[in-house]
Amino acid sequence: MLPPFSVEKSLGLPTAWLASLRRSLRRRLLGRGKPRPVATWDAQYHAGAWDGIAAETERHACIASLVRRFAPVRPFVLDVGCGHGALAREMRADAGGRYVGLDISTEAIRRAGEEAVPGETFHALDVEAGPPAFLSHGSVDAAVFSEVLYYLDDPLATLRRFAPVLSRRGFFVFSLWKPSRHRALRRGLSREYDESCSVEVGLGDTWRISVCVPRGVAGPVPV
Ligand SMILES: C[S@@+](CC[C@H](N)C(=O)[O-])C[C@H]1O[C@@H](n2cnc3c(N)ncnc32)[C@H](O)[C@@H]1O
Repeated sequence: MLPPFSVEKSLGLPTAWLASLRRSLRRRLLGRGKPRPVATWDAQYHAGAWDGIAAETERHACIASLVRRFAPVRPFVLDVGCGHGALAREMRADAGGRYVGLDISTEAIRRAGEEAVPGETFHALDVEAGPPAFLSHGSVDAAVFSEVLYYLDDPLATLRRFAPVLSRRGFFVFSLWKPSRHRALRRGLSREYDESCSVEVGLGDTWRISVCVPRGVAGPVPV
């Protein structure tokens, strides 16, 4: 039997280099992300590599204030890629709402769950598969994707899977770090979403936080 044909090998190109080039082109041209295995996230959370996120209070406060401005009182907030619960902590003052955090890392979810208060639940799952079955269609007032889109293989496809859970006047909140590095992703987002509002947080090109709804859907009304 003949060995499988490989363009890389026949041209004498290093496979790792080609894989990295392919990933970079997918990101730059198509806005695709770079997923990491759950074991990597767990090891990083375990080692405290993401502990600094808790200090990004300005960013989490900005997301919380946009949710307060555009969602009804006592909103249902879905935090997709919630990490160890920094946004939940920020939103805890808003008594009476419902908060669901989803994250691929069981370690992040374990830590977030230790602090959970009534009305909050945290679930470990890969969001690329779409929303979990317990989230009813039309139920979520604000679905936050904060610093997570670039870790998804196909962020736009994942967002399309989550769009049905938004309530009437429900909306997405996207937070992007160094937005100028994610031009293709932003082009894709603006093709499919209308932006109701956006805020720059931090100095220069640090974070861009935007409130968006799928094209053609009535946007949220500030309260
Ligand atoms: C940079 S952290 C952001 C955490 C938090 N949203 C924040 O803004 O502080 C990215 C998070 O996305 C999660 N994540 C990455 N890929 C994911 C996936 N496919 N499904 C669910 N969560 C994912 C990671 O485990 C990590 O907690």
